[in-house]
Amino acid sequence: MGRVDNHVPRVLFVCLGNICRSPMAEGALREAAAAAGIELHVDSVGTASYHIGEHPDPRAIATAQSHGVDISGVLGRQLTEADFHDFTHIFALDKANLAGIKAREPKHGTARVSLLLDLVPGREGEPVPDPYYGDEDGFEECWQTINEAVEALIEKLGYHTA
Ligand code: 4NP
Repeated sequence: MGRVDNHVPRVLFVCLGNICRSPMAEGALREAAAAAGIELHVDSVGTASYHIGEHPDPRAIATAQSHGVDISGVLGRQLTEADFHDFTHIFALDKANLAGIKAREPKHGTARVSLLLDLVPGREGEPVPDPYYGDEDGFEECWQTINEAVEALIEKLGYHTA
């Protein structure tokens, strides 16, 4: 995937509830792109409808905040067919999410759908585990893992964060 001038990458992160992992991924990429001075559109959704219209889990907000990223304004949204046309890249946080995405993929969707950690050399095929039923440590670990992928993504798009 090279940088295509006049085409701003449009990245969608997808988890189950859109209140833990994908909002953290959205915030992390938004921050990394801003820090690198690059133009990028970022959003996040869930495959499930449980948390539509809700703010992220307070533990996700606190974890992002501890890294200087404000995700408190993210509102839960569920994946739609339009997303497969509106985004250039759709990243699933785990394999169940990937299956949920594929199940909804329209015939002529244009977004490239893949597993997020496939971006990270040596971590291909790994999930970003769901931290929802765990403790705060799980959220920090989740943040770190997500940021490995975000750094790889920024580089893959032809930019560098350093
Ligand atoms: P997420 O975590 O997919 O990372 O947002 C979850 C949030 C809520 C639920 C499951 C996972 N839930 O079952 O409500």
